[in-house]
Amino acid sequence: MVSLLENPLRVGLQQQGMAEPQIIVIFGASGDLTWRKLVPALYKLRQERRIPPETTIVGVARRDWSHEHFREQMRKGMEEAHGGVGPEELWKDFSNGLFYCSGDIDNPESYQKLNNLLGELDEKRGTRGNRLFYLSVAPKFFPEAIKQLGSGGMLEDPEKHRLVIEKPFGRDLASAKNLNAAVQKYCKEEQVYRIDHYLGKETVQNLLVFRFANAIFEPLWNRQFVDHVQITVAETVGVEDRAGYYESSGALRDMLQNHLMQLFCLTAMEAPNAMDADSIRTEKVKVLRATRIADIENLANSAVRGQYSAGWMKGESVPGYHEEPGVDPKSTTPTFVATKFVVDNWRWQGVPFYLRTGKRMPKKVSEISIHFREVPSQMFQSAAQQRSANILTMRIQPNEGISLHFDVKVPGGNFRTRSVDMDFTYGSFGLQAKSDAYDRLFLDCMMGDQTLFTRGDEVEAAWQVVTPIISAWDAPADPTTVPNYEAGTWEPVEAELLINRDNRRWRRL
Ligand code: BG6
Repeated sequence: MVSLLENPLRVGLQQQGMAEPQIIVIFGASGDLTWRKLVPALYKLRQERRIPPETTIVGVARRDWSHEHFREQMRKGMEEAHGGVGPEELWKDFSNGLFYCSGDIDNPESYQKLNNLLGELDEKRGTRGNRLFYLSVAPKFFPEAIKQLGSGGMLEDPEKHRLVIEKPFGRDLASAKNLNAAVQKYCKEEQVYRIDHYLGKETVQNLLVFRFANAIFEPLWNRQFVDHVQITVAETVGVEDRAGYYESSGALRDMLQNHLMQLFCLTAMEAPNAMDADSIRTEKVKVLRATRIADIENLANSAVRGQYSAGWMKGESVPGYHEEPGVDPKSTTPTFVATKFVVDNWRWQGVPFYLRTGKRMPKKVSEISIHFREVPSQMFQSAAQQRSANILTMRIQPNEGISLHFDVKVPGGNFRTRSVDMDFTYGSFGLQAKSDAYDRLFLDCMMGDQTLFTRGDEVEAAWQVVTPIISAWDAPADPTTVPNYEAGTWEPVEAELLINRDNRRWRRL
């Protein structure tokens, strides 16, 4: 039998090799993401010789910068965020391929000017008409940019023109559908790369390998053996300087609908027929369509929001959400959300999935834990005097790895037991599992591999699941209910109740 990972049909997860020469056009080039993540990721790929020397980057934004100024900004960014540019010769060679084009997102003339520049660069740098348009602008500008690119004929060739769209893809089901319609008007689905940077993380990709390259877990991965699943993405940072975006987004839209839903899909989906983009994404859509909020009638039992107040992080006092720059002091935007989902299919009927994410939690930690059922009768006395079930934990970050929690006999004359962990850490490979996800994602777009990107129907299915929560929470919340957790503490008490009501507890991380 051919295993999935040997299947010749697979194109995605282990694809190696060199991308074609191309021009990467970054819209929103004066923003943080460009100097912090995007250009450094491309430089890293260049250093590793994964992209050809002809690779050319054109930054587009409103500011009136010269090519030289753009290069200087990117250099500063490398110094600030990555400690320097490394070998001068290499940076010089790379930065010779950086260009800048000022323009307005809604002005057809700007696109004409850009198109002329791209044509000139094709001649000069040998990029053969290959283009990758990366939309790193505020989401409200996505439709306009797509319309202008499309009507200017810049997305015409599905073989040569690709479109990358940063998250968030819409702010609810209706807007995601509208955005998909705008995209589909000018592009074929195989040209479109909707980013969720969690899919670029090694440990997230490993969920597929762990589940489908090992025979022993699959028989246990269902309602017969699993009691429940917990997915946690906790962050220590607050809203930082992103209030402008975050105030209208909040934890549900910023994290749960995308990053946590991806972790959920990869945990709950069926095995794909092959490791190619469409087979994997089809399975994700199937599981999303079977997923719903546990108790829609009594939403408060299945979805809880929170917001942090001032508190202490590592001995330092930090402001509450209301005191953060740019935040409305009466804002009810959630910085924490916990939900309980159920999946109406044969594998998962009756197994709740508890998801939680928050800012200003005591620890930065993302993990998925599978809590197996307890033994039918407790025959042994536990050293800790408490029930213990087997737990399989997949640590997404930090301390990337996997551990299995089980009971063993404590040496001595009686049958006292103790819980121990069998642990694998990625550190044991001697390499970091957490290379910045953007390099991997860029390389995949440049090579035309969509496995790690969200398909149009998938993003809509994810919005569909959270739609009842959005509908309920978009009405102004009672301002006296927030803030309800202190910075530097775990979830609000309502979130404790959400899981305690089922006689379960959140894992203490
Ligand atoms: C982003 C969110 O998508 O993910 C941020 O907009 C969040 O609010 C970030 O901080 C978390 O990413 P990571 O990779 O640090 O877990």
